[in-house]
Amino acid sequence: MYKSVKTSVCSPSLCQALSRPLLTPLSPNPPLQQDYFPADSPVVPIRIPEQKVFNGIEFPLVLGPNKKAASSTPQDALKEWVQAATPEVVDALLLKHGAILFKDFNIDTPDRFNAMVEEFGFENFPYVGGAAVRRQLAPRVFTTNESPPSEKIPFHHEMAQVPSFPAKVFFQCDTPPETGGETPILPSWEICARLEAEHPNFVQKLAEGVRYIRVMPEEDDPSSAIGRGWKSTYATPDRAEVEARLRSLNYTGEWLADGSLRTISPVLPAVRQDVGEGRSGRKTFFNSVVAVFTGWNDSRNKGERAIQFADGSYLDPELIAEAGVIMEELAVAFPWKRGDFVLIDNHTVMHSRKPFTGKRLVTASLAKAARVLKAAVAGASGEL
Ligand code: FE2
Repeated sequence: MYKSVKTSVCSPSLCQALSRPLLTPLSPNPPLQQDYFPADSPVVPIRIPEQKVFNGIEFPLVLGPNKKAASSTPQDALKEWVQAATPEVVDALLLKHGAILFKDFNIDTPDRFNAMVEEFGFENFPYVGGAAVRRQLAPRVFTTNESPPSEKIPFHHEMAQVPSFPAKVFFQCDTPPETGGETPILPSWEICARLEAEHPNFVQKLAEGVRYIRVMPEEDDPSSAIGRGWKSTYATPDRAEVEARLRSLNYTGEWLADGSLRTISPVLPAVRQDVGEGRSGRKTFFNSVVAVFTGWNDSRNKGERAIQFADGSYLDPELIAEAGVIMEELAVAFPWKRGDFVLIDNHTVMHSRKPFTGKRLVTASLAKAARVLKAAVAGASGEL
C-alpha cells in the first residue's frame, strides 16, 4: 500500500515529481515495541490516525497512559516512566523514531511542562540567536513563534540558520486553537533521500553549505514572523557587544541607517550526516532553506535573497517549490489537545506550524544533547 500523492497546477518537472508514489510503503499494522513496554508499564504505545510508517518505523511514536497499570494520575504515570526510561530507553526510542508524542498525560500548564522537561534530564538550551519573538512562561518554557495566526510557518530544523542549535525540542499544548494550528513534523532523512534521488547536484550544493542573510530591527516587531530585534536576540543594547558576539559566531554584520542590523551567517552545511556517538547515521535535510526562502518576507527582508549558496548564487525557486511539496506529503499533522506534548530530535526531524483560528497557546522548551549530572549539581550545592 502506498500513500497517494495529490497533484496541483505546477511546472512540468514539478508535476513529474509529484506523480510518483512515495518511496516508503505504509504498513497498516506495524509491530509495537514490546521490549520497552512490559504489561505493567505505566506508559504504552498507542496509535493515532495521523501517524505514518516509514520503512517500518512509526512516525512519530505515540505514547499514552496504560489504563491497566496502577498510577494515581496520568502525570504520575508519565513521571514514573520517564524516571525509569531515562536515559537509555528514551534515547533509543527517540533515535529510532525521531519524535515521541506524549498523549493524554495532562501536562497542561507551563509549570507542569517545565517540571516534566526537567525529568528527561537534558540540559537547557537558552533561546539566543533565534529569529522569532517569544515570551518566557517558566524557567525552561517559552511561547512558540508568535507570528500572525493566518501565516503558515514552513518546515525547518530549529535554529538551523545559526551555528549553534538545540539537539531536542519539546512542544506542549496549553490552549488548543479552534481550527488548524497543528505543529506538523516530518522525518528529515526521508526528504533528503527523495530530493537526492531526483536532484543530486542540488543536494550536493546544499551539503557544501549556504549563508543566511537577515535584517533585524532594533526593537522586536511582533507583526513579523522574523521580527525579533537585535537587542533581544543578543540580549544587549550595546552595539560593541553585538559586534563581538557576531565575530565569535563568524558572522558579518552591518548597521543600517534606521538602526536595524544586517547579518550574514558563515557558510553552514544544509545537508548533514547525523553522526557521532550513539547517533542515527542518517543523512538529513538539515536547514531552514524552504522556511527562509518562502517565509523570511517582511518590510526588511525578501526570502529569495535571504539565502545563498557558498559561491554566492541564489537557489532555484522551482527546486524549493518541489521540496515544499514533498514535505507536505511526508508531514504528520496531529491535532493539538490540551496537555499533550511532543519531544523532537532536532537533528533528524523538521517541524512547522499551520495557520489557525482562535486563541492558541503552544509552548516550547529547547534542550542540549547532554544531560544534567544530578549528583554533581546536588554536590555543588552541598546537598549530598
Ligand atoms: Fe521552530
